[in-house]
Amino acid sequence: MPVRKKIGLIGAGNIGGELARLCAESELGDVVLFDVPSRENLAKGKALDLEQDCAVRGYDVTVTGTSRWADLEGADVIVVTAGVPRKPGQSRDDLVATNLPIIRDVASNAKSACPGAFAVVISNPLDAMVYEFKRVAGSSRNLVAGMAGVLDASRLALFIAREAGVSVKDVRAMVLGGHGDDMVPVLSMTTVHGIPVASLISPDKLEAILARTRKGGGEIVGLMGTSAYFAPASSAMAMVKSYLRDEKRLLACAAYLDGEYGYRDLFMGVPVVIGGAGIERVIEIPLTGDEKSMLQRSAESVKSIVEVCRRASR
Ligand code: NAI
Repeated sequence: MPVRKKIGLIGAGNIGGELARLCAESELGDVVLFDVPSRENLAKGKALDLEQDCAVRGYDVTVTGTSRWADLEGADVIVVTAGVPRKPGQSRDDLVATNLPIIRDVASNAKSACPGAFAVVISNPLDAMVYEFKRVAGSSRNLVAGMAGVLDASRLALFIAREAGVSVKDVRAMVLGGHGDDMVPVLSMTTVHGIPVASLISPDKLEAILARTRKGGGEIVGLMGTSAYFAPASSAMAMVKSYLRDEKRLLACAAYLDGEYGYRDLFMGVPVVIGGAGIERVIEIPLTGDEKSMLQRSAESVKSIVEVCRRASR
């Protein structure tokens, strides 16, 4: 008998709550919203509010709130937002001390409760947290992905659309590398319906757009006092949907590299195909010399933060 998909959202805060809403309204599956015991009532309250939203808007899934890992058993997908977000003035790397033990706790519980689930990690610093998740959970590389590239590319696409005076629907943008200020916008693969952006926007304006994209998360933290959550939730949703519906979308995600692009034992943003088997392929695209150097710099930053995590295990 067919059973409904089960989606576990680990962390019932801003992104977790928004993700629950998106999963429910697209009837992707039943949703379990998980948080620590002191926040269980928040998870339960959001779940009940969303089930009532189902009743108003005419969709039908169950949404439950919990702090018990047993309720995650058999989950098909988990999305991990557990941890703290940035405050104004903080870098993503400033979150390591708080978020590292949280990710380790989540990964070891996920290993017991739902070892076959496709895991999308969002918590920052992203590339290091997704690395730790895989290491502790012992997941195979196709079943763990970090969300960053979809979001960073959406920011780049928006700024290009506004500057060029075109619909954002026609912009295809690609951002690779680590999810930090040295992320790598790949202009050679960024077009407005196939037209290279460089032929629509002047070099100085493009440079300003790239700078704004790199600081895109910080701009919102500065305005709201906490991290963005609408676009991050939608970005993770694109990955989850592609997995559950075997859509085979080509998305930039933090994937475990085993020689691709010349890097090994590292998570970094690269184009991947997500389908029913998880990350089914890493796509290697030709990069310009400048883009390769930027990727190298970004990889060094990711390695240094992973090294901080390694030292914290000793
Ligand atoms: P939030 O503070 O609203 O929610 C985080 C939730 O995690 C809280 O409810 C907290 O109680 C919970 N939590 C803490 N320890 C836990 C544990 N051991 N198990 C389960 N839940 C636990 O934060 P928000 O805004 O939802 O952001 C979540 C994370 O996502 C942050 O680390 C933030 O920096 C990151 N982020 C990443 C982005 C990306 O592009 N990868 C974009 C935006 C935010």
